[in-house]
Amino acid sequence: MELLCTGDQLPEAQSRGFEINGHKLFATRRDGKVFVYENRCPHRGVPLEWQPDQFLDPSASLIHCATHGALFLIESGECVAGPCEGRSLTGITSHEDHQGIWIDIPGGN
Ligand code: FES
Repeated sequence: MELLCTGDQLPEAQSRGFEINGHKLFATRRDGKVFVYENRCPHRGVPLEWQPDQFLDPSASLIHCATHGALFLIESGECVAGPCEGRSLTGITSHEDHQGIWIDIPGGN
């Protein structure tokens, strides 16, 4: 597991982008729980954000791809609107403790 950031660097209803070992990732927090995904839209395989650390729609209730506007559920990564509807973001296993947010690096050890 690798430390992504401290818990207070990811406040409720905020999102944050990371690049770790060449993997683009992002994390968001909803109802206190952290969700981490690969930063790659299942539509065209491009990063989701235009503005740094902006991965959510204006209501902060869905993940948003800025390229063609796809919307994804925060809890599952499933696309519920847009050109890749029915497909999903790739989830990254994470857990949070008193030190911060830890993730399983994709393809790491
Ligand atoms: S690349 Fe994300 S919706 Fe098209």
